[in-house]
Amino acid sequence: MDELPTLPTGRRVKLLNQNDRLFHVIIAQQFDRELIEHLCRIAEMTRAIHDARAGARFLNTVLSHKRAMLYFIQPSTRTFLSFTSACQILGMPYNDVRDTSTSSEVKGETEDDTIRVLSQYFDVIIVRHPQEGFAENMAHMLNAMPRNIPIVNGGSGKDQHPTQALLDIYTLYRNLLPSPLDCLRHDHDHNPFAGKTIAFVGDLKRGRTVRSLSYLLARYPDVRMLFVAPDELQIGEDISAYLDRHDVNYEYKADLKDVIADCDAVYMTRLQDEHDVAGESKNIDLSRFVLTADMADRFRPKLIIMHPLPRRREIDKRLDADPRAKYFDQVRNGMWIRTALMAYLFNADGTILDHYHSYYSY
Ligand code: CP
Repeated sequence: MDELPTLPTGRRVKLLNQNDRLFHVIIAQQFDRELIEHLCRIAEMTRAIHDARAGARFLNTVLSHKRAMLYFIQPSTRTFLSFTSACQILGMPYNDVRDTSTSSEVKGETEDDTIRVLSQYFDVIIVRHPQEGFAENMAHMLNAMPRNIPIVNGGSGKDQHPTQALLDIYTLYRNLLPSPLDCLRHDHDHNPFAGKTIAFVGDLKRGRTVRSLSYLLARYPDVRMLFVAPDELQIGEDISAYLDRHDVNYEYKADLKDVIADCDAVYMTRLQDEHDVAGESKNIDLSRFVLTADMADRFRPKLIIMHPLPRRREIDKRLDADPRAKYFDQVRNGMWIRTALMAYLFNADGTILDHYHSYYSY
């Protein structure tokens, strides 16, 4: 089997898509601006429809004929629960494997065979795995099988977390646009990121959410990204090379307090020390990469404070009640954008769109 992650990006995207539509969801580079905005729109419509009991009942029929497997062998709270919530909203039965000690992998069944077996029971497999490239290789493997079903990457080692990036960009849209309902407008000339500065702070080297969101933001001209991290944890050269190729304006910074006043959004991350091999990040000084309450007098009035969570100490808890703190909103936005994505994967986004237009106008 070719190792998909080593192929050029364009070739990877082609192999992951079918009929010019996403089939497997593995890397953020699969999403262009049109698709991002379409999914934000479907998410916005879905949450409006779900507000009414009749609407929730309608949504509950949309994917009742499909079944999902969550193969999550790395810990997760949000990604797991938002995908299971998305399944529940769309009426889609689901099952999960979260601990391989309860599966036949303990008897020596390979992960490849496990995925092949799961593909016989289910219509989509959402994968969280500690190994970079695992989900992508499984997608490639299923492409060669008589029964091919979508693989969705729910977090792949230190590499990517594309559905987190979707919820992050959806959160940015909801906060940068004058009203969240503006997500529903088909106005591709409007670029809400033009002239905006977004700072990524913390462990950027191993933070897969930052890596995926950087790819998405690179789709928007005139955005400026600041990578604020200790040298040892600075963003990877593969990302900076990608940003160079796409003419994105970015800078490296070494102290959050020097840049906070310039930021329209600040995306905090924790130390990803689960990826340490021998405790190598234990002695890194992170004191310059903490958002403290005493910085608040330098915040812009509409600063968007984000964090993929879980957090440790990188955001002062006294900021939680500040209306600019959006990290718990991100959690809820994740449920709706993943609902939109699941509907899209099974060509049911049009059903939601039609239902919305029948009952609402904008
Ligand atoms: N943000 C995120 O991926 O959280 P979980 O690890 O809890 O899924």
